[in-house]
Amino acid sequence: MFLREGGLDRDVLLVALLNHASMHFVEEDALMLCTEYPREAFEAHKRQYGDFVKRLEGLKDHPVYITLDCIREWLLRHIFIEDRRIGVFVKGAARQ
Ligand SMILES: [Fe+2]
Repeated sequence: MFLREGGLDRDVLLVALLNHASMHFVEEDALMLCTEYPREAFEAHKRQYGDFVKRLEGLKDHPVYITLDCIREWLLRHIFIEDRRIGVFVKGAARQ
């Protein structure tokens, strides 16, 4: 099993997730900057990245279900709400 309580696999998963998230954040930063996304919203989005990374880094000694809860919350709240705002903005910018 890839994700098991107290095992190395969870650490590997967290490192992989942090690496993937970092690449995703760099790509989204570039997208927001090149489409002139509102500066205040851009800064707020970046703060959310920082908060997420800190939360993931702080999960090493917590039960697996807390890790999964954190990831689930991120997927639901950030990607489906916050990232979708970027998509709407970019579509509008492309139409102009
Ligand atoms: Fe994002």
